[in-house]
Amino acid sequence: AGGVTRGADGVVTVGGIDVRALAAEFGTPVYVLDENDFRTRCRAWRDAFGPGADVFYAGKAFLSRAVARWVNEEGLNLDVCTGGELVTALAGGMPPERIAYHGNNKSVAELERAVEAGVGRIVVDSFQEIVRVADVAARRGVRQRVLVRVTVGVEAHTHEFIATAHEDQKFGLALSTGEAEEAARRVLKLGSLELVGLHSHIGSQIFDMAGFEVAARRVVGLLRRLREEHGVELPEIDLGGGLGIAYTSDDDPPDPWSVAKALTEIVTHECEAAGLAVPRLSVEPGRAIVGPTAFTLYEVGTVKPLEGLRTYVSVDGGMSDNIRTALYDAEYSVTLASRASDEAPVLCRVVGKHCESGDIVVRDAYLPADLAAGDLLAVPATGAYCRSLASNYNYVPRPPVVAVRDGRARVIVRRETEEDLLRLDID
Ligand code: LLP
Repeated sequence: AGGVTRGADGVVTVGGIDVRALAAEFGTPVYVLDENDFRTRCRAWRDAFGPGADVFYAGKAFLSRAVARWVNEEGLNLDVCTGGELVTALAGGMPPERIAYHGNNKSVAELERAVEAGVGRIVVDSFQEIVRVADVAARRGVRQRVLVRVTVGVEAHTHEFIATAHEDQKFGLALSTGEAEEAARRVLKLGSLELVGLHSHIGSQIFDMAGFEVAARRVVGLLRRLREEHGVELPEIDLGGGLGIAYTSDDDPPDPWSVAKALTEIVTHECEAAGLAVPRLSVEPGRAIVGPTAFTLYEVGTVKPLEGLRTYVSVDGGMSDNIRTALYDAEYSVTLASRASDEAPVLCRVVGKHCESGDIVVRDAYLPADLAAGDLLAVPATGAYCRSLASNYNYVPRPPVVAVRDGRARVIVRRETEEDLLRLDID
């Protein structure tokens, strides 16, 4: 048994397990992750791009030791962006040479750890960082492979906070000002660095391939200039992550095969036109792999109908386990998961237990009029950037992640306890 289905009694099951049983065993709120779905999506991305390309799972979307192990077992590489993600990836058994390390402000200590571990790629993001990585590598007597992160100047059609390729933001080195080329030139001059390629990431939750195509064209343009001006042909291009997923039924995301086809075609075409050997392509999907594989299960507490407005349905979590609605105006759907109801749906807002009015999980939802305390609600597509962005706001312990596979459920990240929270406090 696999996947999420609803029985004739209205009860949702995942991987053959009834959500009521999950709630009884693990408590609520709980992130329920379908491990087979995760693995299937990893394989889909790997198969779609084939052996001539590399797929890096972006760990920022959601990482744990178990996840790092699955990613490794499914033959993907892993993208990390902090020392903490790096440690988790290594603890999960990810071979260091298959890790790429990103970030706009990696500390010297983090760089030392990464170089020491032998990470395969460090993506350099500033002129200062080029010097820092070179120094660290030189001190260790190694030649570190790096990519230069290029700001291609694309306006991705997504929320401002998650768009990253327009010029006025913190990431990368701009193509238009010549800084990206200058960065590549500086890396090439440093003996402790090996410049293997260029990197671009245009943003997140993107549906339209047009932005990626412009990015690919511009990155190849820089490859050509590097050959013409500096006599080097770089062997790799990384086009980043950012592929969108369906949060509601209105969304129609691209599948891995159409993404792979579009990116491979444009890179091949542009390189052939420029007389360049076609470089090895890599991509870094995070959300597209893990996002759809999990849902959050909440228990309903207070139900407050506001005359002439809507019904406020309070659940036992909120913005501490899903900040995305408050932060990005993200849209989610929600469903009554623990029983059937014949009652007409009424307009509701699903809110959390936190002490602010912006604590909204699902802004607009139709739920049965007889919704009551104790009912279980499932909010789908919470696998990406929910647990990883979770906080302890209001001293709320963070929920566990339970992985379901072949009719068995197991905790891969345990629930925080109040003891965990108090452990950090000093009188
Ligand atoms: N590669 C790089 C260099 C990135 O910066 C990111 C995401 C990814 C790959 C993966 O992007 P994805 O495929 O998951 O879209 N917290 C926000 C998303 C922030 C994305 C940051 N970088 C959200 O919840 O929507």
